Amino acid sequence: MTEADVPEVVATERASYQFPWSEGIFRDCLRVGYVCRVVTVDGRVVGYGVMSIGAGEAHILNLCVHEAHRSNGIGKSLLGYLLERGAAAGMGEAFLEVRPSNTAAIRLYLSLGFEQVGMRRGYYQAVGGREDAAVLKLSLRGRRARTR
Ligand SMILES: CC(C)(COP(=O)(O)OP(=O)(O)OC[C@H]1O[C@@H](n2cnc3c(N)ncnc32)[C@H](O)[C@@H]1OP(=O)(O)O)[C@@H](O)C(=O)NCCC(=O)NCCS
Repeated sequence: MTEADVPEVVATERASYQFPWSEGIFRDCLRVGYVCRVVTVDGRVVGYGVMSIGAGEAHILNLCVHEAHRSNGIGKSLLGYLLERGAAAGMGEAFLEVRPSNTAAIRLYLSLGFEQVGMRRGYYQAVGGREDAAVLKLSLRGRRARTR
């Protein structure tokens, strides 16, 4: 992801989430050096992922595919890319938060071996209040040999 991609990323973000990240958040992620990846089709951004790495942990902060391009394997391949980057950077574990109501995302994460390790109460903004987040974890240790 580059600065030039941000407007297209934000358009998909706004169409995909009830409480989307702002353009400024994406620009901050680029500025601080988070792993920010886009997938393009015919030169247009159709998906993106954002991950922080540090203190032995990779943290998937955002993963999103434009509605018109879902169920084509893009989300899985983006997440796979982020996990490989985390493993290559020597991170032992990957973490992410997900709304318990987001069954498509949860199926994706479980299919890649993530396991639920906790629940953050009231983590997300929601209509009329807050929503909990399920915390999912995946060990990256087995991946290191393949990525070195
Ligand atoms: C979650 C998301 C990124 C998945 O992207 P995608 O490109 O459609 O996913 P893929 O085609 O790679 O599917 C991979 C797996 O995810 C699961 N999955 C994806 N869409 C699904 C759906 N609508 N219902 C159930 N499972 C689904 C399946 O396990 C699928 O594997 P399969 O095709 O072998 O059954 C996408 O739905 C999205 O952008 N949603 C809105 C943003 C969001 O909620 N992001 C996650 C925040 S935590």
